Amino acid sequence: MSKDKLPRHATEQQNVEVSEAQIAVHWPEEDYFSPSNRFIAQANLTDAGIFARFALDKFPECFKEFADLLDWYKYWETTLDTSNPPFWRWFVGGKINACYNCVDRHLGQHKNKTAIHFVPEPEDEAPQHLTYQELFVRVNEFAALLRDFCGLKAGDRVTLHMPMVAELPITMLACARLGVIHSQVFSGFSGKACADRIADSESRVLITMDAYHRAGNLLDHKEKADTAVMEAASHGQQVDKVLIWQRYPSKNSSPTKLVEGRDFVINDVLKKFRGQRVEPVQMPAEAPLFLMYTSGTTGRPKGCQHAIGGYLAYVTWTSKFIQDIHPEDVYWCMADIGWITGHSYIVYGPLALAASSVVYEGVPTYPDAGRPWRIAENLDVNIFHTSPTAIRALRRDGPDEPAKYNHHFKHMTTVGEPIEPEVWKWYHKMVGKGQAVIVDTWWQTENGGFLCSTVPAIHKMKPGSAGPGIPGIHPVIYDDEGKELASGSGKAGNICIRNPWPGGFQTIWKDPERYVRQYYSRYCRNPESKDWRDWPYLAGDGAVQAADGYYRILGRIDDVINVAGHRLGTKEIESAALLVPEVVEAAVVPVADPIKGKVPDLYVALKPGLAPSEEIANRVSASVVSEIGAIARPRRVIVVPDMPKTRSGKIMRRVLAAISNHLDPGDVSTLANPEVVDKIKELAK
Ligand code: WTA
Repeated sequence: MSKDKLPRHATEQQNVEVSEAQIAVHWPEEDYFSPSNRFIAQANLTDAGIFARFALDKFPECFKEFADLLDWYKYWETTLDTSNPPFWRWFVGGKINACYNCVDRHLGQHKNKTAIHFVPEPEDEAPQHLTYQELFVRVNEFAALLRDFCGLKAGDRVTLHMPMVAELPITMLACARLGVIHSQVFSGFSGKACADRIADSESRVLITMDAYHRAGNLLDHKEKADTAVMEAASHGQQVDKVLIWQRYPSKNSSPTKLVEGRDFVINDVLKKFRGQRVEPVQMPAEAPLFLMYTSGTTGRPKGCQHAIGGYLAYVTWTSKFIQDIHPEDVYWCMADIGWITGHSYIVYGPLALAASSVVYEGVPTYPDAGRPWRIAENLDVNIFHTSPTAIRALRRDGPDEPAKYNHHFKHMTTVGEPIEPEVWKWYHKMVGKGQAVIVDTWWQTENGGFLCSTVPAIHKMKPGSAGPGIPGIHPVIYDDEGKELASGSGKAGNICIRNPWPGGFQTIWKDPERYVRQYYSRYCRNPESKDWRDWPYLAGDGAVQAADGYYRILGRIDDVINVAGHRLGTKEIESAALLVPEVVEAAVVPVADPIKGKVPDLYVALKPGLAPSEEIANRVSASVVSEIGAIARPRRVIVVPDMPKTRSGKIMRRVLAAISNHLDPGDVSTLANPEVVDKIKELAK
């Protein structure tokens, strides 16, 4: 998407034609689909009166219902403290432990039940089933190690750079048991990207794994830890210990050597902690549970700080009533725990409800597009959750595969990007066999859990639309002047949430000013106000609201590109390109892609006198991969003689975006260098 905000003038409208907004606006209104009576009969939430109970005049006390799903050591005194807007404090005075709520409290009734089904990518390797009792034992032993071997205590930060294995939730829960703040970095990110997060969070312990399977290969993951530690040191952060899980216990699967005195194989150290138990630390509700770094409008990724009480209450409630999780369900969220979706809806939400949660190591289409349906059939998964990118890939590679398997989903989720109605209908008909309800859930890393979604047994579904705000969430769309856009107006604007909610992040780690500026300053009515009504939360997405009240999310209004559902900052990619000495300017634009939604095209200009070459382009691409990770790899690196610029020297990314998407770049006569546009068109053909 271009740098520009939503269109104000007709001329601009044409120019932003490449934006997700415009692509989505071309979708016609769709017919409704109804949930089946069979689904409704068993659903956790069927009372439409819920919306009155969560109306704004019941705010904030209505959220007591969320917190009451948890076990508290000490009940809170104040549901919401708004004395220092927009730093909202939920359930103040309460004492709680997230690990206790996800593990210990289930032992009475569910100790023999599977908590985690770990499915290795190689199909000849049997899945592992970890009961709640086994999870309890492993979490306790590892918590003892973190406490006694690493000296970690409540409030310390630890960076995790782990793949999709059962040891990842074990590690997270062990941290939570001690009140240690975990910061899990997506395993596909590079060692350098991991280093930035280690430095920002000031972690002195890094927890990783030697290797993992991905698309048929056993990848050496430990080597990334070496880069991460070295780079973090160059940012001034010393890592004292690297703890290494083994993908195959008692075997080292990485050729990368251990560094004496720094690297420790967890399974060796754990021997000393066998059978140990660690009392869960009674933490204030508002203490941070974890940091999750995400790309924002400017600069480096920012650490979204989530609180124990509010966050856990929010993901538990939404897992129960929007995901419709019952303890007897086998629930599979096919996402990565390295993203917020995995934190909320693979680990904390489902485990707080004593569900069985599937952790799948590999890629959905490996070795073929029938894989997810075989897993679902074998484990008898009945709730399935994934992204439009995964659905598109499975549809492309195996449109008829789901029919070959005897799986039955009662409920399916889509999350992370707009889903095209056509793709939604395939998901419904083929994957859900026409029987499953679908929820299209819109939310963000910052939000902790779902903001907009249908309530599955109450609302009808409408392909391509997320639905209304969930109970307790009151969205509003403002235009650029701050005027509310009515439902059914057909106009797109900036979607905001009127009220605070318990799942919302507390701040950006070490950058509270940016938290206020980026999310609240735009529509704040009075910066002195102590009234939450004056502080709408700006999500950073464009949206339209249909006459029926359903929101359709159109995509980012800022410099964030959503590649395959993963947020990448244009600045991060451009900075990586600028590390190549020959490059003087870089501009990245999103290109529509049939599978990944969006992919980046990277335009670069070289120092005067240098000739473009494939070799330079390759180095630019390699720099992006090593700085961020393979998910950010540009589709193309296009070396241009000059960037199209305004007279004030601003790069016109929207012109480049139009060229990359084979659209009309519109009137370019006002540019400082209009003649360059045709040359770029030629190069980018
Ligand atoms: C986009 C992922 C359309 C949106 C949970 C948002 C969506 C960004 C949807 C957040 C959806 C998420 N329909 N777009 N159902 N869900 N998005 O932080 O642009 O990785 O701002 O959180 O994904 O991405 P994030």
